[in-house]
Amino acid sequence: MSPDLDRERIRRLLQEHRSMDALRLVDEHLQQDPDELEIQMLRAECLIAIGRFETALELARQIRARAPQQDSAAELVRMLEENLSNPASTDRVATWRNWQSEVPQELLLRMQRSVHSYTYRGVQLVKDPFDLALYPLLLWRLRPGTIVEIGSKAGGSALYFGDLLTNFEISGEVHSYDVFPVEDVEHPLVRFHRGDGQHLDEVIDAETLAGWARPLLVVEDADHSYETSIAVLRFFDAHLQPGDWIVIEDGNLSDLYPALYPNGTSGPHRALREFLSGTDGRYRIAAELCDFFAYNATSNSNGFLERID
Ligand SMILES: C[S@@+](CC[C@H](N)C(=O)[O-])C[C@H]1O[C@@H](n2cnc3c(N)ncnc32)[C@H](O)[C@@H]1O
Repeated sequence: MSPDLDRERIRRLLQEHRSMDALRLVDEHLQQDPDELEIQMLRAECLIAIGRFETALELARQIRARAPQQDSAAELVRMLEENLSNPASTDRVATWRNWQSEVPQELLLRMQRSVHSYTYRGVQLVKDPFDLALYPLLLWRLRPGTIVEIGSKAGGSALYFGDLLTNFEISGEVHSYDVFPVEDVEHPLVRFHRGDGQHLDEVIDAETLAGWARPLLVVEDADHSYETSIAVLRFFDAHLQPGDWIVIEDGNLSDLYPALYPNGTSGPHRALREFLSGTDGRYRIAAELCDFFAYNATSNSNGFLERID
């Protein structure tokens, strides 16, 4: 078959979404003539069609280097670089940010209704899809020795954290506190305790703290009042070390119910603002997590804090 016919066939296969057949034909052609730029470009198109974007980008860059005058390769590189770059991937140190989420209120309200019916291994787990995806990123990177959760509810989140530790082969454990402790969920790495976030000194003593492996990841997910959030922040501020983390959940009540909490005044947001303004740069807001999917696309808007000093 002539090379022209081959190209035509490859393009037709791509149009018909028979991308693997197109890729096979391209590779057969390249075996005979590995340097042919037009077929290389078609290979990049096939790779994009099957979702191998990074390999396509690599190839497009090679074509651009070999033929700088070829606009289509440069354009492909530009398009792929733009689509593959995560705007939130920089590790910015931030202590002050806008408190609003980029997620529209209508979507937040719709998700909120389903979040309460979500179950993990049959146990209620009250987290939005963004946070279900963000916690694994954090755990994989941090490899926490101990996760301390305030607010267990049915135990689904503690179970989820315990499973992530197991799956990631992290030798850590989860201690989950609630005013109504969970009694019917079991996991080898999870312990449920009775405890009030406003009076943690009554249930977490110096010996307990000293026994917890670091780094520590504290997740405050109790009643989302200013009083509880600030109490948990203050209690742990005295015990956290650089490299430990504390997450204050559900500040985005400000975005869900702006009439109740105008201008970022949900309990968690008020507590976070006050805490951060008084801690002299000891913490940073982890923008790379808060903004991973879009600006503050998390229930924990501006609530992922890393102790840095
Ligand atoms: C939002 S739910 C926790 C959801 C759970 N972490 C999850 O993701 O599935 C809040 C829980 O906090 C508990 N709670 C409320 N006030 C509390 C406090 N002051 N101290 C500890 N727990 C509290 C409630 O009993 C409830 O179980």
